[in-house]
Amino acid sequence: MFSYRHGFHAGNHADVLKHVVLVQMLSYLTAKDTALWFVDTHAGAGVYALDGSFAQKKGEFKDGIGRLWAQGGLPPALEGYVRQVQKPNPDGTLRHYPGSPQIALQMLRDQDRLQLFELHTTEREVLQKQYANVKRKVSVQPSDGFAGLKGVLPPTSRRGLVLIDPSYEDKADYARVVETMRDALQRFATGVYAVWYPQVQRPESKALPGLLKEVAQKGWLHASLKVMAPAKDGLGLHGSGVFVFNPPWKLEESLRDAMPALVRLLGQDRKASYSLDGKQG
Ligand SMILES: C[S@@+](CC[C@H](N)C(=O)[O-])C[C@H]1O[C@@H](n2cnc3c(N)ncnc32)[C@H](O)[C@@H]1O
Repeated sequence: MFSYRHGFHAGNHADVLKHVVLVQMLSYLTAKDTALWFVDTHAGAGVYALDGSFAQKKGEFKDGIGRLWAQGGLPPALEGYVRQVQKPNPDGTLRHYPGSPQIALQMLRDQDRLQLFELHTTEREVLQKQYANVKRKVSVQPSDGFAGLKGVLPPTSRRGLVLIDPSYEDKADYARVVETMRDALQRFATGVYAVWYPQVQRPESKALPGLLKEVAQKGWLHASLKVMAPAKDGLGLHGSGVFVFNPPWKLEESLRDAMPALVRLLGQDRKASYSLDGKQG
């Protein structure tokens, strides 16, 4: 079993980028009444204690959500994201961080469904316990999310948002993401898919956006955020990216506004920058 536990990283700069994009997509996709299925192929534990030993070990959230939490005057996309983080922190003190399943549950409506895949036994048990009272709406699958996605596409409502968010602890994840997307677009060409990836000093990480562009049949949008220069020793996460297939049409406009603000707020040195490019469907 892998050793990766998202609790060590919850709320860091990479979670901020991923969840800003997720909140925007969910808000656009829930504007229509038809039921939406949200599929999270790598769900994690749902909610993370920022005052717990995992999050406190390196305090990564302090350079992520910690820098946005008490900020006024944020662009609308960042404000919308912070509003979702405020929900599990009703007294105004940042103690809990909502992961992707929790953000989705907060934003989805009665007619919508959440399909969560998680391989790690402990994370899965936490998810199952946490969502036991919303079983009708949330299904937690103890299986491989890459393989499991095949079985849930296309969703019966024909409207779906899929988040593919592996830890990339196993470098085979890079190739599996590309294969999974090729297969998913054949099964459900009109779905909205978001793939998160880390910017690390590995050839696989640099090549991934280019490979995803080749797989895209219609429109796509690619946002990346570098918070610092890559480390000289080659280690560490200096940024991350989200590649969206079939993006909701307003997503690009809202990210145009949000990305420069993310560089200003989350940048750790003068090399901090963003990129945003795409192709209309
Ligand atoms: C980056 S974390 C997910 C974070 C979460 N999506 C969020 O944004 O809050 C990746 C998770 O995937 C799980 N995992 C790793 N390989 C998996 C696989 N093949 N299928 C399903 N889950 C997997 C790990 O245990 C870990 O909890």
